Amino acid sequence: MAILITGGAGFIGSHAAVELLNNGYDIVVIDSLSNSQMESVHRIQELTGKEFPFYEVDLVNKVQADEIFHYHPIEAVMHFAGLKAVGESREIPLKYYNNNITGTLNLCEVMAKHNVKNLVFSSSATVYGNPNSVPVVESFPLTVTNPYGRTKLMIEEILRDLHVSDSSWRIAILRYFNPIGAHESGRIGESPNGIPNNLMPYITQVAIGQREHLQVFGSDYGTHDGTGIRDYIHVVDLVKGHLKALQYLERNEGVEAFNLGTGKGYSVLDLVHNFSEVTSREIPYQVVPRRVGDIGICYANPEKAKNLLGWQAEKGLKEMCQDSWRWQTSNPNGYNIAVKQ
Ligand code: UD1
Repeated sequence: MAILITGGAGFIGSHAAVELLNNGYDIVVIDSLSNSQMESVHRIQELTGKEFPFYEVDLVNKVQADEIFHYHPIEAVMHFAGLKAVGESREIPLKYYNNNITGTLNLCEVMAKHNVKNLVFSSSATVYGNPNSVPVVESFPLTVTNPYGRTKLMIEEILRDLHVSDSSWRIAILRYFNPIGAHESGRIGESPNGIPNNLMPYITQVAIGQREHLQVFGSDYGTHDGTGIRDYIHVVDLVKGHLKALQYLERNEGVEAFNLGTGKGYSVLDLVHNFSEVTSREIPYQVVPRRVGDIGICYANPEKAKNLLGWQAEKGLKEMCQDSWRWQTSNPNGYNIAVKQ
């Protein structure tokens, strides 16, 4: 029996693949390669010394998704596949709804058809909107402000409805805070296309000289230095949470949502200073106005995952910076051979 990883060539999916293989699981990986490269699949094999089936499949194509279940004995699915850029989701919402929602509906339909009902779903702390208080607990009200976030929240609700209709589904909804870092080997990591939207890849590209300076989006938030506070979590810790969730589903029925965060908040400038200290690189920055849609403070209460999954993040901010930097320096252009714009 194997675990199907959708989006397994992407940043988080590729780390999950390595973790699963290193823990003795068989895996099948699918990815549309629309926002990822085949090279990451080769690197998963190189890192683990293990072969596994890979298919270039887009979940929007239900026939192809069905074939995977036809040919492989799948016991559970980790569903990472999805579009994830907030700004882009405002410009092309239909593409986001089609890709993320239709893709997930197709996946659930073929899972049900083949009687595979254990699912770990990649959600996001974005479903908490601008929380009234921190740390954020799973029972907080859910609200979203952009199409990307709405796809995550809609999928959470679809999965709950699915379980109401058929209680044999076992579903873990994992709400990620801010995943950064990379595998300690420096062989797999985040390879953004074009200008990075997220903070850490932007910092590493400034540090290596590909971009002149960081823009700090706002210094007038109600935080110790005025810049936004987030809960940065090492991607390897994050994927370990997925394995614990998979094991939890073997023991428990139902739908359960879990925060995957460290419980610690750091500001943009905290991250910049830690990064500079660890790497001995200056990060020139300019403060610019707030980014539309950004919130001031968000960090997790990770107690539920600790109590029910037996999981907690172990790696600190310095390790996250070190591993992000190792990835960037050993792969200046990510998985791309050509120099990026
Ligand atoms: C963003 C998304 C969130 C998504 C997550 C995925 C928005 C509004 N939110 O989270 O929905 O789930 O990515 O990883 O896009 N910052 C700068 N300069 C930069 C980039 C970021 O100052 O060039 C600041 C931001 O204002 C924020 C912090 O760095 O305070 C983290 O930003 P980012 O990495 O984009 O993550 P989020 O905005 O938290």
